[in-house]
Amino acid sequence: MNLANRLEGQVALITGGGGEIGTAIALRLAAEGSAIVVGDLELAKAQATADKVIAQGGRATAAQIDVSDAAACEAIVAFAKQSFQKLTTLVNVAATVIPDGTVETLSLDQWNRAIGVNLTGAFLMCKYGVPHMRAAGGGSIINIASQLGHLGVQHRAPYCTTKAALIFFTKILAQDHAPDNIRANSISPGFILTERSSKRVGGKDKARVLNGPRHLLNRPGEPEEIAAGAAFLASSDASFVTGTDLLIDGGYVTFKGRMTPEGKTVMVS
Ligand SMILES: NC(=O)c1ccc[n+]([C@@H]2O[C@H](COP(=O)([O-])OP(=O)(O)OC[C@H]3O[C@@H](n4cnc5c(N)ncnc54)[C@H](O)[C@@H]3O)[C@@H](O)[C@H]2O)c1
Repeated sequence: MNLANRLEGQVALITGGGGEIGTAIALRLAAEGSAIVVGDLELAKAQATADKVIAQGGRATAAQIDVSDAAACEAIVAFAKQSFQKLTTLVNVAATVIPDGTVETLSLDQWNRAIGVNLTGAFLMCKYGVPHMRAAGGGSIINIASQLGHLGVQHRAPYCTTKAALIFFTKILAQDHAPDNIRANSISPGFILTERSSKRVGGKDKARVLNGPRHLLNRPGEPEEIAAGAAFLASSDASFVTGTDLLIDGGYVTFKGRMTPEGKTVMVS
């Protein structure tokens, strides 16, 4: 299948676009014809992604943004409009990592920061993005949630709770803006091999060995596999898809167990 023009005419704004999954999404949407606006807390990372898009022949601009800041969200949407005249696609990838802890050890500031970035950030981007998407005749909102929004893990209440809420927020968003021809869906990745996700177990090599067997496919996912799902949801191939959560998790949520090197499933009590 030739996907070169599947997203022709689209303008996508990607928050957290300087990260590994955000970069993969930017490169994939651009490869299929979309113009890209990259937003990230770290301007250098946003710019690096935009540079990669341009290097592969695409169109991209970059801006610094903290998605928990309403004025910054409003400004980057205006910047997208100024850069490429419209907005059709909003991909909320930005998320923050809070140290592990329980209600006794986590501070209120840490809890509020997780909600501010992971959940309110998506709310704010949608709040300012929706009017422009409606004006463009409709579009697609893609919120990057997590397998941990389905199956929580201990000591990570802020992350798991915000991701579960993001999945539900997306369903209401879909209902509210179906009349605007705006589709809204979330993607719940499994364990994707990135620096950030691998750090807690000591790097990508260890993460591959430790986390791979938690998936039925017996390996972690790659950022490009999430990008493929985002490109589908952005495209007219997903014209009848809204209000859903797309699990791209190698079977992580399907079973509570581990795979053996021989490919057998072992249940974990
Ligand atoms: N890697 C995984 O295993 C995995 C699994 C499930 C879900 N996810 C989700 O995928 C997304 C990307 O994860 P990743 O592994 O590529 O991480 P990453 O750290 O490489 O990317 C996250 C990006 O978000 C940016 N960011 C952080 N706070 C921000 C803020 N307040 N405003 C704007 N940008 C901000 C960071 O600077 C970073 O560039 C996240 O939403 C994450 O929760 C990842």
